[in-house]
Amino acid sequence: MGKLLALALVGIVGALIGERIVSFRNSVCASRKVTPKRLPNCHLVKGIEFGSEDIDILPNGLAFISSGFKYPTLKSFVPDKSGEILLMDLNENNPRATEVKISSGFNLVSFNPHGISTFIDKDDTVYLFVVNHPKGKSTVELFQFVEKDRSLVHLKTFRHELLQSVNDILALSPDTFYATNDKYFTEPTLALLEMFLGLPWTNVVYYSPKEVKEVAKGFYIANGINISPNGQYVYVADFQGHNIHVFEKHANSSLTPVKVLQLDTLVDNIFVDPYTGDLWVGCSPNGLKLFLYDPENPPGSEVLRIQDIHSEKPTVTQVYADDGSELQGSSVAAVHANKLLIGTVFHRALSCDL
Ligand SMILES: *[C@@H]1O[C@H](CO)[C@@H](O)[C@H](O)[C@H]1NC(C)=O
Repeated sequence: MGKLLALALVGIVGALIGERIVSFRNSVCASRKVTPKRLPNCHLVKGIEFGSEDIDILPNGLAFISSGFKYPTLKSFVPDKSGEILLMDLNENNPRATEVKISSGFNLVSFNPHGISTFIDKDDTVYLFVVNHPKGKSTVELFQFVEKDRSLVHLKTFRHELLQSVNDILALSPDTFYATNDKYFTEPTLALLEMFLGLPWTNVVYYSPKEVKEVAKGFYIANGINISPNGQYVYVADFQGHNIHVFEKHANSSLTPVKVLQLDTLVDNIFVDPYTGDLWVGCSPNGLKLFLYDPENPPGSEVLRIQDIHSEKPTVTQVYADDGSELQGSSVAAVHANKLLIGTVFHRALSCDL
């Protein structure tokens, strides 16, 4: 009887592990065969060699790019080099990306920029929020952009116990923001187990000087976050869940769920076109290739455009797709005028005409 029970237990545990492996393969390691879909007039951006994980573009055409991102499970071509913020002026004919000078007093050596978000104040002051991972920790850095010499002055570092594993950020004012956490556990083994078991324990946190609180939860890996042009809706990408969550934003900064748009790819950063309200999403069609990098068989890229997300039937268009021969591991797609900029986790960046 004892043996039978033991055998049954082994069977149950085995079945559970098997189910987890299948579910893991279908979520994080999801891998679609990518049929390339190219755009005309694309070229790799000069000055970007080591990633362009997140991109935000000001209405005047200045694009901020986070580069040199390092993460324990992800490839980096420059493991010993600090990360940096790059700037590109999309008004130029053939713009290249150049490093933005950051004021002294900020620790550049441990700079490891991830998600970014710009905010323009009533007096036209431009602020740049940057998620940073100095020595594997999570902080949010606030910079002011100085137009005159196109440099950044570091103003402040935000830290909080609820900001344990920040991925992306949405600036609401010079001292309030929403941030996504992509993990519940920060300890690496537990974090891997969390991902493997598919625990939907990640969240969105609201930060203000008066109050820091969780405003949404239940994501497998909460990733990109952005807001509708009218400021009424917040969009959150769940990388492992392959979907985008739409929330209504209230005056008290709480979020209530409106709908979930299911997609067939690992969704990373979300850029919202300020004029049309369309969502542009940088996606990973093959998660396993992203995490287990093989230069002979690199991860592909995919850009989705979502129109009318608030309607009954949003239109989802695959604008760009590549098997990795042109662009590896896209993470963001941002538009300005008729230009599309596609950024990547650790590879280069592509500029295309739409
Ligand atoms: C925030 O506002 C919403 C909408 O008015 C309301 O339903 C919710 O209870 C409020 N939350 C808090 C914590 O006050």
